[in-house]
Amino acid sequence: MQKRYLLAPGPTAIPPEVLLKMAEPIIHHRNPLFEEIVQEVRDNLKYLFGTKNEVLIFASSGTGAMEGAVTNMLSPGDKAICVRSGKFGERWANICKAYGVEAINIDLPWGDILDPAVVEKTLKANPEAKAVYMQATETSTGAKFPVKEVAAIVKDYPNTLMVVDGITGVGVFELPQDAWNIDILVAGSQKALMLPPGLAFAGVSDKAWEFNKNSKIPKFYFNWTKELTNLQKNQTNFTPAISLIIGLMQALQMIKAEGLDNVYKRIDILSQATREAAVALGLKVFAKSPSPAVTAIVAPEGIDGQAIYKSMWKKYGVTGAGGQDQLKGKIFRIATLGYADKYDVITAVSALEFTLRDLGYKFQMGAGVAKAVECLKDA
Ligand SMILES: Cc1ncc(COP(=O)(O)O)c(C=O)c1O
Repeated sequence: MQKRYLLAPGPTAIPPEVLLKMAEPIIHHRNPLFEEIVQEVRDNLKYLFGTKNEVLIFASSGTGAMEGAVTNMLSPGDKAICVRSGKFGERWANICKAYGVEAINIDLPWGDILDPAVVEKTLKANPEAKAVYMQATETSTGAKFPVKEVAAIVKDYPNTLMVVDGITGVGVFELPQDAWNIDILVAGSQKALMLPPGLAFAGVSDKAWEFNKNSKIPKFYFNWTKELTNLQKNQTNFTPAISLIIGLMQALQMIKAEGLDNVYKRIDILSQATREAAVALGLKVFAKSPSPAVTAIVAPEGIDGQAIYKSMWKKYGVTGAGGQDQLKGKIFRIATLGYADKYDVITAVSALEFTLRDLGYKFQMGAGVAKAVECLKDA
């Protein structure tokens, strides 16, 4: 028997309360019972996103909402600024390209800090850019980006939208949409929302709805105007992912009961313990401005990062993640977003220690676990 622990940056572990709720017999979606659920979910999503506006719900993975944030706002031939510093920043630029939008890329070495002044300079040079697309966390590198500061710059450009991929940011750290002037904030179910993959979300500002009126990119499945009209009637444009929305109701109740500030504090201390444990083992954290969502750790000299990730999973039952694209083999990642507590971190660090010992790395056995325990003793 091997017990399994899921500490990947998505999908994340699902609380038993949510699993049980989703296992209930399916109900019909054009039914008052379902409409009551949607009403509650709408209210609680506004709480989670920090917005007075509706948060749209889509039956898709997170990328569906990212794509919609291009196709519902822009027109072919428009320009948009994309921050590229990892796999998901590249995705913004790829979506733009697919729909005939010219991406003006801010290319940052993977794992580096994003200086808001660079975005400001790019905007000044390209005031006709219709949007700035960026990540809250670049999951592929574990870097956190300065959303608040960039949004404060974009706010002064009436013809530019601030669009944030908060797929590993919403429910992880402070990201209040209205207070920070984020025009579109995207999230996905399989991250801090503690659900299986299959739902995507987009909070949309009044400014963004104005842009939507002039958007000429063709749209059908991801037609945000139609989704808004339906959502305001507690419905969706197409058949919704009913069981996932019922699970979402439960997950949002749990987040609300804990309180968003407490959720942020919990995830923050877990990530801090993970980083400090790695350093205590003589390892280096990859991102210069690390996100609490996921810690990317540099594989020690001569040891393959993929071998670390694979051994932790195969031999010790802890699923983290490896590196992607240019970071494959160079890093491995341990996530702390969603349904995670201190025992998850201690377990992951001990699996890491067993793995490193197996792979011949020289270190003091127990140093990482001791550091994690010390960091978490009062958590
Ligand atoms: C920051 C970020 N953006 C986008 C995505 C893509 O989301 P999905 O795979 O749900 O389409 C992910 C998924 O890992 C992510 O972490």
